[in-house]
Amino acid sequence: MNPAGGGRRACVIGWPVAHSRSPMIHTYWLAHYGIDGSYDRAAVAPEAFEAFVRGLAAQGYIGGNVTLPHKERAFELCASVTETASRLGAANTLWLEDGHLHGDNTDGAGFLGALDQDACGWDARKNVAVVLGAGGAARAIVDALLARGMNRIVVSNRTRARAEEIAARAGGPVEVADWDARSRLLAGADLLVNTTSLGMVGQPPLDIDLTALPPTATVSDIVYVPLETELLRRARERGLRGVSGVGMLLHQAVPGFRRWFGTTPVVTPELRRLVEADITSSH
Ligand code: ATR
Repeated sequence: MNPAGGGRRACVIGWPVAHSRSPMIHTYWLAHYGIDGSYDRAAVAPEAFEAFVRGLAAQGYIGGNVTLPHKERAFELCASVTETASRLGAANTLWLEDGHLHGDNTDGAGFLGALDQDACGWDARKNVAVVLGAGGAARAIVDALLARGMNRIVVSNRTRARAEEIAARAGGPVEVADWDARSRLLAGADLLVNTTSLGMVGQPPLDIDLTALPPTATVSDIVYVPLETELLRRARERGLRGVSGVGMLLHQAVPGFRRWFGTTPVVTPELRRLVEADITSSH
């Protein structure tokens, strides 16, 4: 390793940002791979965001992650974006190259990376996925599932118009269903994904009857507080495979680390335990 101070610097930019686990994840990988670099937390209010991003290089940063509420503004400030970020209209990973700001959106890749690691072979059946919710996470997940070749995706959201917007923008076999129909939609589904905040600590439970899900189905929840949601517990009780939101949190960090520090990092069991322990201790 080089002496302190010589390394590359990245950061996570958010408002608020204190809750972000990105520093823990990237700092773990920097130590794990013996890379001289650092990863900070930057609390930046919306009105200060543009100036902060334009000053990244001057502050010694080579890039960073962007979290709420800045993902759309980050996308607009990029000189160049990946096709994924372009389709989603939002960026969560920024890097400087040739003096210009580049952006990617790794939420969908993180979602798939988690399924691949935690429910290996889940995509042997790709006929129908049911996605609950229609926020930014749902948009990225629908996009990723289409890229993976899912034959049919049904989006069900309390506010139906938001689901319709996702379907209209997706440019693939995406349908919309009423929120009240969510339990019935599960007949024949290969994958159920909860992208709503329901089931999170402090939020109402996700009221859904899993009876109709086939025994081969996989259930994924992007909620990670608690680590095992009621949805995942009930899926496990039925013998279904469940994937927790921690996996997506960990895997969405992989492409950024590769861009900034030149190594493709592995989501190790040790890293997962570290982050899970932090989540448990802070809630
Ligand atoms: P994100 O961008 O992180 O996905 P979001 O845009 O706030 O977050 O989306 C949260 C999702 O949870 C939405 O689909 C929201 O439904 P609406 O679009 O109708 O707001 C859903 N959600 C939150 N609280 C809910 C509740 N009590 N019942 C049903 N859905 C709920």
